[in-house]
Amino acid sequence: MPTEKKSKFIVFEGIDGSGKSTQVKLLASKLLKNNISHVLKKEPGDTIIGDKIRKLLSEDSDMSSLTELFLFSAARKELVDKEIIPALENETLVILDRYIYSTIAYQGYGRNIDLEYIHHLNKMATSDLKPDIVFLLDIHPEISSSRIDSKKLDRIESESIEFYSRVRNGYLEIAEANPNTWMIVDASKQPEQIHTQIWDRIY
Ligand code: TYD
Repeated sequence: MPTEKKSKFIVFEGIDGSGKSTQVKLLASKLLKNNISHVLKKEPGDTIIGDKIRKLLSEDSDMSSLTELFLFSAARKELVDKEIIPALENETLVILDRYIYSTIAYQGYGRNIDLEYIHHLNKMATSDLKPDIVFLLDIHPEISSSRIDSKKLDRIESESIEFYSRVRNGYLEIAEANPNTWMIVDASKQPEQIHTQIWDRIY
């Protein structure tokens, strides 16, 4: 039974098919079991405007990389102002499925948008709010792509293995540059094993 909360703002990152959402759910249900109140949110979305943006982003329509960047940033601005900051001010534990690092990895490393632009937009969207812990569910894109149903791929999930390799390398670079905040988890392991590693890092 945890006695002390070491962190308030916890972020999960990883490429599509890394099992990130499964880990978010496992963590949330363990928190519930332990009567630890928390707020669980997901990017993009989880606000009225954010959900509309999420739909636009997943549709199979032609979109420039910069349009994509602005849409993710707009959805983030809504979520941070309306949900994340109020919850943290209330001293509630916040778990967020994707944050600014998704934009650095996908739009920066994946789409090759200038990282300076991205850092600037991320700062604008979040007032430079940083998480206490980031869990990176790291997996080889060949393995993650085999986990996703190929008939249900959305616009971004349809990207090539090369794209996902760049995204993965981007995540690893950020994680390696920030060892105090980031924990790289081998996402090819069994979900329960990963969950235990995550729980032990938080409590
Ligand atoms: P996610 O919610 O993890 O996928 P799913 O819809 O399957 O639950 O993420 C949505 C997609 O958006 C995913 O392909 C990653 C991408 N994404 C970016 O490219 N940039 C971003 O800034 C964010 C937040 C997500």
